Amino acid sequence: MTAQVPSPASDPAAPLRDLLVARIRENGPIPFAEYMRECLYHPEHGYYSRESAGRFGDYYTSVDVHPIFGRLLARQLAEMWEVLGSPLPFAVVEAGAGIGRLAAHILDFSARELPAFYAALEYVAVERSAARRAQHAERLAVHAAAGKFSNAAEIPLAIPVGCIFSNELLDALPTHRVVIENGKLREIYVGIEVEQLVEILHEPSTAKLDEYFREQGITLQDGWQAEACLEACQWIENAGRALRRGFVMSIDYGHEAGALYNERHNRGTLLAYRDHVVSENLLEAPGAQDLTSHVNFTAVDVWGRRAGLMRTGLVTQSQFLVALGRANEFADLYEPGQMEVEKLRARLLLKNLIHPEGLGEKFQVLIQRKGIEEPRLTGSSGY
Ligand SMILES: C[S@@+](CC[C@H](N)C(=O)[O-])C[C@H]1O[C@@H](n2cnc3c(N)ncnc32)[C@H](O)[C@@H]1O
Repeated sequence: MTAQVPSPASDPAAPLRDLLVARIRENGPIPFAEYMRECLYHPEHGYYSRESAGRFGDYYTSVDVHPIFGRLLARQLAEMWEVLGSPLPFAVVEAGAGIGRLAAHILDFSARELPAFYAALEYVAVERSAARRAQHAERLAVHAAAGKFSNAAEIPLAIPVGCIFSNELLDALPTHRVVIENGKLREIYVGIEVEQLVEILHEPSTAKLDEYFREQGITLQDGWQAEACLEACQWIENAGRALRRGFVMSIDYGHEAGALYNERHNRGTLLAYRDHVVSENLLEAPGAQDLTSHVNFTAVDVWGRRAGLMRTGLVTQSQFLVALGRANEFADLYEPGQMEVEKLRARLLLKNLIHPEGLGEKFQVLIQRKGIEEPRLTGSSGY
């Protein structure tokens, strides 16, 4: 994979590409994880930092399909609150909250349908991008005024009791990439050759890469490429340390290690998204395209344990939503006084969330707990 330098002025990727090229010329090649961090989170030119970050233009998430996703999540969060003894206050910390759309769905529904839970709720939307945080104020004004909503750039350092959850956060964290060459672990760096950004193999930039695979008992074959998202390990460890009692719930696409590091994924899973076109041109448009990789749920489990998080369950999004929705036959899909044709449309949108061909089987929900005996939670009960 290569990308032309220098860049034409009209190219939205030009400013970041020029910065990266200058930096690599001065200091040498950078690990791919470093490149990905700049592409997504450079304060000015990163994909998620720009005002125009192409929501809907490049990709959509479950949140965008229908508010039922947030409503059923609210039901799961309310049940977690009850299982923990209905504490007051109860922190719900949404990590990677984006523009606050999911927060609005959860809070609007809780205020209307789950008043006791809403009364206990302290919702914190954690979002690294200032441009995205700025969009929370209007959407969540009612809940902020009621003292139920606030936002932050990072997870609070101490959460006495609550649930930290995320939807499509972990897949958006910068990841290292490795290749096995003659039986040895090598890392993919981004360098420059003949005026182009190119991938270069070097010695691993950190001993943590070797530890990552060893700790999970993963053996990669010669020639295989793979990701090792050390930032996800760090993130779950930090989340576990911040939480004294409660749950961490991670919703994302991905697999357990055994299903991720195999022949099927032997080129890795990193992809670029731009205008709903998926490609492997990872170096093509720094800062102007989304980059994302499949989550390794085994690593999230293993590194979570270091901070006292125990696995409660890993189920598909389909199992999770159906288990939560079936109790009232998905009545939460509808608005009061809705016409039959609108109800039908809502049912079709629900299908997209739970159907194997849609998001239902691609996405998984991992629930971890801390400071509480194995509970029975509807969402992770299977059906
Ligand atoms: C793929 S988007 C998902 C947004 C939203 N959760 C949704 O489902 O629509 C990932 C979001 O996580 C944010 N993010 C990435 N790393 C973060 C971190 N360490 N802390 C907080 N937010 C982060 C990004 O800025 C981006 O808004």
